Amino acid sequence: MLRLLVTGGAGFIGANFIHYVMAHTDLQVVVLDKLTYAGHESSLAGLPTDRFRFVKGDICDAELVDSLVAGVDAVVHYAAESHNDNSLADPLPFLQTNIMGTYVLLDAVRKHGKRFHHISTDEVYGELALDEPQRFTEHTPYNPSSPYSSTKAGSDLLVRAWVRSFGVEATISNCSNNYGPFQHVEKFIPRQITNIIDGVRPRLYGSGENVRDWIHADDHSSAVLRILERGVPGETYLIGADGERNNKDVIEAILVGMGQPADAYDHVTDRPGHDLRYAIDSSRLRTELGWAPSHADFAVGLAGTIAWYRDNEDWWRGQKSAAEAKYSSAGEQVQHGASGQASGAAATGQVISGQVG
Ligand code: NAD
Ligand code: DAU
Repeated sequence: MLRLLVTGGAGFIGANFIHYVMAHTDLQVVVLDKLTYAGHESSLAGLPTDRFRFVKGDICDAELVDSLVAGVDAVVHYAAESHNDNSLADPLPFLQTNIMGTYVLLDAVRKHGKRFHHISTDEVYGELALDEPQRFTEHTPYNPSSPYSSTKAGSDLLVRAWVRSFGVEATISNCSNNYGPFQHVEKFIPRQITNIIDGVRPRLYGSGENVRDWIHADDHSSAVLRILERGVPGETYLIGADGERNNKDVIEAILVGMGQPADAYDHVTDRPGHDLRYAIDSSRLRTELGWAPSHADFAVGLAGTIAWYRDNEDWWRGQKSAAEAKYSSAGEQVQHGASGQASGAAATGQVISGQVG
């Protein structure tokens, strides 16, 4: 395989994948990205022009997609509307890009007979209980909670249908929560890091007991490359690095890592429908394809991520006020003196205790 079309390559995980591919392979890459609020061409600055080309465009543009797919050997599909909170405020773009965009790509790879890899999320499986050892496997039934995760589940099912009905050579990977450089400041970890840089207290939804299974973006990239090289068409692989942590622990680690008291954060009301826990069993990827993560130490990866946001304020500063304005317009406001337990109020991110400082 020589030439890849990577959709969404100007977003967080896509950009990390492009840098990983440039550093670790000889592949040629074309990125197709619409440059929504979440896409930043600057994340791809300085890449070698003999191996890399950027095309600004929409994956829903069938003519453009057809012409690009015709010129490559495989498609890696990252492009999506990716943020749960945005999907609660306005689901329509999620349906358009995540469902219709995936359909347009699938029809093009079907027509041109190209290999397809679909990037998906562990959120399609819904939530796990906090106090049970179960983790998601490739056999866990789909049970998505949010408009975002339901559109990702729908896109996964489209891929499976195009495999079965039309013989498309596609694989799917469902990964857990990524962290690392180039992540939009609307997301949990960069939001808190950039808040602290700005002298604003971090904001924890509900009690903070919710667990996410963190993986460094470079480990996601190495797993996707491994699936492209050795994955069996028609199969699904779960990607995870055994990184379960609750949100409270993560926020405290960020504060301590940035020289602040561990308790200098505010609880805010819960995200509606907030999934309790995600956890990935990646045994299949490890045993069948021989993959293993390289960034197993979350503390080291988090320190590197904090350093990256400190060193790259030019990259994120322009996003910050718009991201915070979205949280405000969704109802976020400071309230003093409450416990931090989820109140059930509908407004996402409404502060219910504490004070900036
Ligand atoms: P992101 O929001 O940072 O980036 C998405 C990118 O897609 C942006 O560059 C945006 O401009 C582009 N895009 C959006 N709509 C488009 C369209 N219609 N046409 C072309 N480009 C479009 O997202 P991310 O966090 O990097 O996630 C990338 C993929 O990985 C998504 O499919 C997401 O579901 C999946 N995923 C994310 C995580 C995570 O922790 N962030 C975990 C597992 C899976
Ligand atoms: O599990 C994979 C998914 O991880 C991906 O499919 C999504 O694209 C990606 O956005 C991410 O979804 P989450 O909803 O888990 O990520 P987010 O960064 O929005 O939130 C992580 C956790 O932190 C979640 O439990 C909500 C909580 N949170 C979030 C924000 C923004 C807070 O407590 N405070 C916050 O300010």
